[in-house]
Formats: sequence, structure tokens, C-alpha cells
Amino acid sequence: MILITGAAGKTGLAILKAVLSAGEPVRVLVRRDFQAAELRELGAQEVVVGDMEEPALLQRAFDGVRAAYHICPNMNSDEVGIGQNAITAAREAELEHFVYHSVLHPQVQEMAHHWNKLLVEGLLFKSGLNYTILQPASYMQNISGYWSKMLATGEYGIPYSVDARFSMVDLDDVAQAAARVLREGARHYRATYELCGSQLLSSIEIAEMAGQAIHRQVQAVTMNRGVWEQSARENGMNDYARTTLLKMFEYYDRYGFAGNATVLGNLLGRAPTRFEEYLKRTTHLSPSN
Ligand SMILES: NC(=O)c1ccc[n+]([C@@H]2O[C@H](COP(=O)([O-])OP(=O)(O)OC[C@H]3O[C@@H](n4cnc5c(N)ncnc54)[C@H](OP(=O)(O)O)[C@@H]3O)[C@@H](O)[C@H]2O)c1
Repeated sequence: MILITGAAGKTGLAILKAVLSAGEPVRVLVRRDFQAAELRELGAQEVVVGDMEEPALLQRAFDGVRAAYHICPNMNSDEVGIGQNAITAAREAELEHFVYHSVLHPQVQEMAHHWNKLLVEGLLFKSGLNYTILQPASYMQNISGYWSKMLATGEYGIPYSVDARFSMVDLDDVAQAAARVLREGARHYRATYELCGSQLLSSIEIAEMAGQAIHRQVQAVTMNRGVWEQSARENGMNDYARTTLLKMFEYYDRYGFAGNATVLGNLLGRAPTRFEEYLKRTTHLSPSN
């Protein structure tokens, strides 16, 4: 039995589907009852429902599983506390293999959600557990949040330079690599893997390719970060998420966010998915159809 925490989110669902298709039973940790029902429907055998910030819930979730894939909820200011509690629960349960969903370049201190993941990685080194750390780049799937605006205005508006470059990764590739790591276990103990796509794309190129896929001219434009912040505030985004994302945009503006695709290619046994392939596979899901 494999535990997946944060299982009802974007990442969790992709990992769940990949692990289930590899055949091992899965227990999921989700926050809400309706998510429990949905994930059972998808094939999860066991469900633990509640707040991941509760150590007792993590203890219940880790009890009796062989391996765990830990996904901290996005933009949680207590990622380190949750990570520590998950590690404690894993040790108590004598877990065989702890796989941690980190992020590419957790070493960047300016971005709190990266730095917190680095601190959790450090806890794993000292935990005595058999661990594997996966460090994905930003997902190609993040583009789906922009479809409606692109279709309505022909603009891909991002709060950083349109020239900054990214080695976006297909989340489904990440999930397949994760399923392999979980299946093969010991071969991946104490490993840290950067998981990146093979292209280095600017937002200008991303917009052009997305436009071709939805048969509309789309242009990348840099939106003012103050305007972004105001809109995030009005939409109820909390202080931690807002300030952390602003720092991330400042970082992207100066440095982009890019890594190397070789490790992912090795884990997949094929070239990582290219952005145009991802678009071809998914644009029928966009609001244009
Ligand atoms: N997006 C990227 O490009 C990217 C790249 C690399 C790494 N990552 C990392 O991937 C991780 C997951 O991101 P994501 O975008 O997949 O997250 P997400 O879609 O926001 O999913 C988070 C899930 O956790 C649940 N959750 C939130 N707070 C919880 C709590 N206290 N207890 C139990 N469950 C809780 C949420 O439930 P509700 O639906 O009820 O809120 C949701 O189902 C993050 O750590 C992120 O940093 C993301």
C-alpha cells in the first residue's frame, strides 16, 4: 500500500492515476469528504480525511503503508512543520520509502516556498529514512489557468519579463517518473532528481505555441506586478501566498526558471514531452471547445 498526501490537488491526482496504473493499492490523504468520494471513484482503496497540519492525522495516514509520496499543499506557510510531522509519522510507522515532492532549485532563498522545501529536504537527510526527493520544474499544466483570458483577449499576461526562459515539465511525465521511483524503491534511495522538460521557452514562444493550438493569435504581455497584487488581494489570496508569489515573479523576471532534462528522460526511458505535444494532447480540454 502506498500513501499519497495532498492527493486531491493538481499534482496529487496525476500521481494517483500513475501509481494506480502501476497496480499497487493506494491510500490517499485529502481534506474534504467530497474529495474522498471522488478519489475512491478513481480507484483509491483507502482514504484518510482531515487537516494535514494535525500530527495525529498524519500518524493515522502513515500507519501500515509500505511507501509514501508526500505532497505539501501549495503555498502552505508551514511546509516545514508539516514535513517534520510527516517524517516523524513515517519513522514511527517504520516506513520503507519516503518520496518527497519538492521543487526545482529549492536553494533559492528569495522564494519562501522553495526555501521551505530545501529545509524539509535537510530534515530527510537526517531522518534515517530511505528517501527520494523529486524536484519538478513549473508544470506545462499551469497554462490552463490562462486559457479563458487568452481566448477572450488574445493576450498571455504574466507579471514578469516575456523574455524570461522556462524548462516547463509535463506533470504527467513527473507522475510517471514518480510511479517508477515508488515501484523500484531501493534503486532510488538517497537520490535527488531534477525533473525538467527539454525546451527552454520564453513566454513569447509559449504564447505563440498556445495560439497555434487554439487557432487564435496570442501575444505575451508583461502585466504590472502592482496590478497583479491588487487583483490577488481582491480575490482573497492570503498574505503569505501573495508576498511569496510576488517574490517568485521578481525572480522569474531576472533569471527565468530552467534546469536539465536528462534525469527525467532517463527515468521515463524516452524524451520528456515537448510543449507542443502537451498542447496537442490537451487543448481539446480548453474552453474553446
Ligand atoms: N504548480 C507547479 O508548477 C509546481 C511545480 C513544482 C512543485 N510544485 C509543488 O507541488 C505541490 C502541490 O501543488 P498543487 O498545485 O498540486 O496543489 P493544489 O492543486 O493546490 O492541491 C493542494 C491540495 O491539498 C489540499 N490541502 C490544502 N490544505 C490542506 C490541509 N491543511 N490539509 C489537507 N489537505 C490540504 C487541497 O485541498 P482543497 O482543495 O480543499 O484546498 C488540495 O486538494 C506544492 O507543494 C507545490 O509547491 C508545484
